[in-house]
Amino acid sequence: MGVRLVDVTDPAEIAALVPHVHRLFLMVANGAALGWATPPPQPEVRDLLTGVVEGAATGEAALLVALASGDDIPGVDAPKPLPDGSVLAGLGYWRRYTRQTHRPHADLERVAVAEAFQGRGIGRALTEGLVASARKAGIEVLTLDARGDNERALALYRTLGFNEYGRLVDFVAVGHLRYDKVFYALDLRRPWPRL
Ligand SMILES: CC(C)(COP(=O)(O)OP(=O)(O)OC[C@H]1O[C@@H](n2cnc3c(N)ncnc32)[C@H](O)[C@@H]1OP(=O)(O)O)[C@@H](O)C(=O)NCCC(=O)NCCS
Repeated sequence: MGVRLVDVTDPAEIAALVPHVHRLFLMVANGAALGWATPPPQPEVRDLLTGVVEGAATGEAALLVALASGDDIPGVDAPKPLPDGSVLAGLGYWRRYTRQTHRPHADLERVAVAEAFQGRGIGRALTEGLVASARKAGIEVLTLDARGDNERALALYRTLGFNEYGRLVDFVAVGHLRYDKVFYALDLRRPWPRL
């Protein structure tokens, strides 16, 4: 597959990525469960990426992007290319908890794959890559939360060893609709069952 995963650690790369990540997050308008009721404006995306990439330098965070090139870019509905001709197919990131007593742990805050690239293993590769980078950074427990109706994402996380540790019923509000908020955790102090 002509899709490569790149760890973004250089703040100088953020400016080029911002419009592409902004466009990726427009999937929220189609119902993607990414924690926003409406797509985030570009300045919010810039601040988010800046915070994550700056944190990457000190083991506070990690940002992984999936870049597609050549024949792996779909003919229709493909996102716009980056300056090097590749296309942002997806991204994911984790951040260490800021609360002092939670410092050994991190939250896998978002994983998103552009609609034109979904179902091709990119979400799995991104999530596996983020779990690996969290383990390498010495993270003890990697948590995440997801909307209860996001079966595709929840199934993916379960196959990677995440376990449900809690659920707030009808907690996520999107307009008048209510969804469960489901909490998953992966204890990285134990050997990864898949290895
Ligand atoms: C969730 C998401 C990241 C998955 O990425 P993806 O690249 O489409 O997923 P993959 O192709 O890697 O598939 C991973 C797993 O997802 C599940 N999955 C994929 N397509 C599915 C489908 N149509 N129905 C149910 N489960 C499906 C399967 O468990 C699959 O496992 P497999 O590799 O054994 O087949 C992607 O659909 C997405 O960006 N959705 C919108 C944003 C979002 O919900 N992010 C997660 C927030 S918690």
